[in-house]
Amino acid sequence: MELQEIYGKETVRARIKELADEIKKWLPKNETLVCLCVLRGAIMFFVDLVRELEEYDVRLDFVSLVSYGDATSSSGKVTLLQDIRENVEGKRVLIVEDIVDSGYTLQYLKRFFSDKNVKEFKIACLLDKPCRQVDVNADYTAFKLDSDRYVVGYGLDAAQKYRNLNGIYEVK
Ligand code: IMP
Repeated sequence: MELQEIYGKETVRARIKELADEIKKWLPKNETLVCLCVLRGAIMFFVDLVRELEEYDVRLDFVSLVSYGDATSSSGKVTLLQDIRENVEGKRVLIVEDIVDSGYTLQYLKRFFSDKNVKEFKIACLLDKPCRQVDVNADYTAFKLDSDRYVVGYGLDAAQKYRNLNGIYEVK
């Protein structure tokens, strides 16, 4: 498999700092924020993002979702493999997702939190792809891809490979 770099390590790092500054505008300093990592793809993005929120009372939680389909396309069937553990009632929640592609996963997450009585939730995603099946968008997006490309690295995989790369690469 041939990989071509799209965003290098330093570009990713700088963009996440910028994104954290945007998110801070939404956060009062005296409030608890639950940061929710959508496993597995968002892990690197999540860790780097929450490290930029050092001055806040941040709690970390995780969900694991699986969206059935082949390696490169979503079927729209999203299943929860691991549920949240924190009590999110009355709290602000930042959902940290890897990629918004068809939009099914994001739609699932929005529905999931709509009956949890949270104070407010927002969604941060690392990458936005242009081919939505459902009309949903993240509140904060690190990078927007202008064409439909399959990408790996920085948490993202192809058949579980490449998650540990520091940059983001297109699979050629
Ligand atoms: P959805 O189609 O918006 O529901 O996205 C489903 C999931 O597919 C994302 O959260 C990613 O984990 C995965 N995904 C979509 N496009 C890519 C890609 O280019 N590389 C790696 N994973 C992807």
